[in-house]
Amino acid sequence: MTASKLSVAVIGPGAIGGTIAAWISRSPLVGELTLCVRTPLDRLVVEAPDGTILKVAPRVVTDPGQITAPVDWVLVATKAYDVAAAALWLKPLLGPETRVAVLQNGVEHVERFAPFLPADRIVPVIVDVPAERTAPGRIQHRRNGTVTVPAGEAGEAFVALFAGSVIEASTTDDFLTAAWTKLSLNCAGAVNALTGRPGGVVRAPGIADLMREMVWECVRVGRAVGADLGDTIPDWVVERAMTSPADSVNSLLGDRLAGRPMEWDARNGVIVRLGHIHDVATPVNAMATTLLAAVGWQADI
Ligand SMILES: NC(=O)c1ccc[n+]([C@@H]2O[C@H](COP(=O)([O-])OP(=O)(O)OC[C@H]3O[C@@H](n4cnc5c(N)ncnc54)[C@H](OP(=O)(O)O)[C@@H]3O)[C@@H](O)[C@H]2O)c1
Repeated sequence: MTASKLSVAVIGPGAIGGTIAAWISRSPLVGELTLCVRTPLDRLVVEAPDGTILKVAPRVVTDPGQITAPVDWVLVATKAYDVAAAALWLKPLLGPETRVAVLQNGVEHVERFAPFLPADRIVPVIVDVPAERTAPGRIQHRRNGTVTVPAGEAGEAFVALFAGSVIEASTTDDFLTAAWTKLSLNCAGAVNALTGRPGGVVRAPGIADLMREMVWECVRVGRAVGADLGDTIPDWVVERAMTSPADSVNSLLGDRLAGRPMEWDARNGVIVRLGHIHDVATPVNAMATTLLAAVGWQADI
């Protein structure tokens, strides 16, 4: 670890990891930046929302054996279903004070990584940074966006990495509610992946009501685990869908159309699993989860 500047490793520099890595490399606090990749890349080229091109050439490693020293910060930005593989990087990266920020969708950031390090060194991050990868290391950052972390010393330290970035980083005193609010928005996106149709499908007969019920289930489960979710959230989610561009493609649909695995468990399965534990009925999310899982199912015979 460096005494003056912070060493940072990003596991999974795809759309989010690559965008964040490019921006935090501008922070005066950040020294050595390492990208831990699955698919090799030469450097990061990120087109910012204002058209500026950020070019960064950090150290790129393709195997955990290439890591020679622990770092101050690990930022994990793989998809939620790639946690087991992402965790293989952690052993050589973790020192006694290393913090691990988890930049993924869902509400189980800490639970996913708690098997690998003490929970108080894990910083869960709510990411609202629209970005797309066009090739390994080539990213279109669409809107400045925000990252939100729990209040406290670790959260403040994470926010400090964003000095010099257009991404607005902040802490919240009620991370649980913030994460479940984002999940309320995300869970309704299953409708697009299931129908194979972009945002405009919300106007099809019955779809707005279906989305509203899906979100209500999320709200009821979120309340059962302690989130402070208001009655207006289901209508807010549907209203957002109604006013979004009809051709907008959420990441679940994008992944389905591209034949990639989908984050259905982090976005809908979690509602069903926690609903079971807290005795909250979740039939709509259960059906969505079963059908989305079946899309990627491979028969053994
Ligand atoms: N993109 C957005 O606009 C957006 C917005 C909000 C939240 N999020 C959330 O952010 C998270 C990341 O999404 P994303 O869109 O950035 O996904 P992505 O573009 O698919 O990036 C994921 C990256 O993880 C890499 N990866 C997977 N397994 C790995 C391993 N074992 N070692 C090293 N790298 C590994 C992938 O490598 P390959 O290059 O080999 O595929 C890819 O570069 C997700 O939870 C997503 O829901 C995304």
